[in-house]
Amino acid sequence: MPKQSVLVVDDEVSIRKALARSLEREGYLVTTVKSSVEAEAVSKDKEYDLVVTDLILPDGNGIELVRSLQSKQKCKSSIIITGNATVESAIEATRQGVFHYVTKPFNIDEVLVLVDKAIEHSNLSQQNKHLKRELKRTFAIDNFVGDSEPMLKVIRLVERVADTDSTVLITGESGTGKEIVARALHYNSSRSDKIFVPVNCGAIPLGLLESELFGHVKGAFTGALNNRDGRFKAADNGTLFLDEIGEMPPDLQVKILRVLQNKSIEPVGSVKSIEVDARIIAATNVDLDNAVQEKQFREDLYYRLNVIPIVMPPLRERRSDVPLLIHHFLEIYNNEKGCDVLIRDDMVINAFASYDWPGNVRELENLIQRIVILKGTGEVELRDLPTKILSGSRMRVAQSGSFTDFELPDEGVCFKELVTAFEDHLLAQALSRTHGNKNKASELLKMNRTTLVEKLKKRQVLY
Ligand SMILES: Nc1ncnc2c1ncn2[C@@H]1O[C@H](COP(=O)(O)OP(=O)(O)OP(=O)(O)O)[C@@H](O)[C@H]1O
Ligand SMILES: [Mg+2]
Repeated sequence: MPKQSVLVVDDEVSIRKALARSLEREGYLVTTVKSSVEAEAVSKDKEYDLVVTDLILPDGNGIELVRSLQSKQKCKSSIIITGNATVESAIEATRQGVFHYVTKPFNIDEVLVLVDKAIEHSNLSQQNKHLKRELKRTFAIDNFVGDSEPMLKVIRLVERVADTDSTVLITGESGTGKEIVARALHYNSSRSDKIFVPVNCGAIPLGLLESELFGHVKGAFTGALNNRDGRFKAADNGTLFLDEIGEMPPDLQVKILRVLQNKSIEPVGSVKSIEVDARIIAATNVDLDNAVQEKQFREDLYYRLNVIPIVMPPLRERRSDVPLLIHHFLEIYNNEKGCDVLIRDDMVINAFASYDWPGNVRELENLIQRIVILKGTGEVELRDLPTKILSGSRMRVAQSGSFTDFELPDEGVCFKELVTAFEDHLLAQALSRTHGNKNKASELLKMNRTTLVEKLKKRQVLY
């Protein structure tokens, strides 16, 4: 670890020397100067971890100096030393963000303790700032990729409801981004400096779910050797994310409803309720409306959860986001794996955009990750794509009917690809019109039945 740097500013040579000697002995890298002007000069190309300065300097004031250095990010932390302690200057020093204030004559050991504390404090606050920046980067709404109309609607809704305590129910197919929305709601709310607790209701064995959610008291059941807090308690003042809420068994549904109504929980085996203030966000890819009708999910809980519904659109309904997502994930995985893979070919991008993405954004992310790892560097070509993407896209091009008014582009086309796509289009139509009857389909195409069967065999992926 590099040495921490300290700038000592004092016009009294004896003080400069005493401080420098002691600080160097403690392993700090010390620079000493006697005035504000000199302090500004030496910090021109350098940032100090700590500035220890006299309050009264021959050419100015220590507090002003600290303020000036801080504004230029030339010092992370500071200590003022003075022989003229007054309450006002102490208050002013604190207001300026000066870490501490000591009066002359001082005990050098006392100053060293303060120096340690000041540096530790500044390291922690740097780390904190960094972590917060990271969190914001990961979960801010800014990091949502998508500028299609359905996605903009979601983003606007998230912005509007993030900083409320309303319960939110996020629904959508698997991989559409339900969890990233839940996190964005939390990290854009006033609870953002508190904890976000995710619980996957479908992944916890039923027997454990109640104690996992509400906690238990010692002796509540065999193996309950101690009192234990549950996830609701852990999320107190923060956000509890009940993922896969559709998997919640009926007896627990009642208990969740009670918690939402009373804002308190009863740990397993206890008769005492404990107040909790957790914001609830739930998510599911099950059609809860349907589950309610089939009596799989309680209607009262459904309404209680569904105060603000957010519906995540599947990727195939916002194909214009696909190119943005491709580049977003390319950047992430190229950086992560130290690779340099590019996707520039329009045919490749079109193939991605035409595919139906049953696994939504997660499927796209996994595919980009795989391509980056396998290719390592260079431009992705059509032949680098898995068959499912190519055949899916061929079907869609065919369905769009764009063949009839197809114009040969200047850069040319892949003849085989297009002809195959047109054949696929005809075969699919013939089969669909004859409800899969190959005899009738071959008649419709004025083709031998055996030729049709041969062609279908080659296209196992499609039919
Ligand atoms: N709009 C988006 N922008 C950037 N990344 C996204 C977006 N939507 C989803 N992702 C990424 O896709 C992956 C899947 O998202 P997430 O886990 O939020 O989906 P989900 O709806 O909760 O899926 P499941 O139902 O399978 O749990 C994550 O890695 C997430 O970061
Ligand atoms: Mg999820």
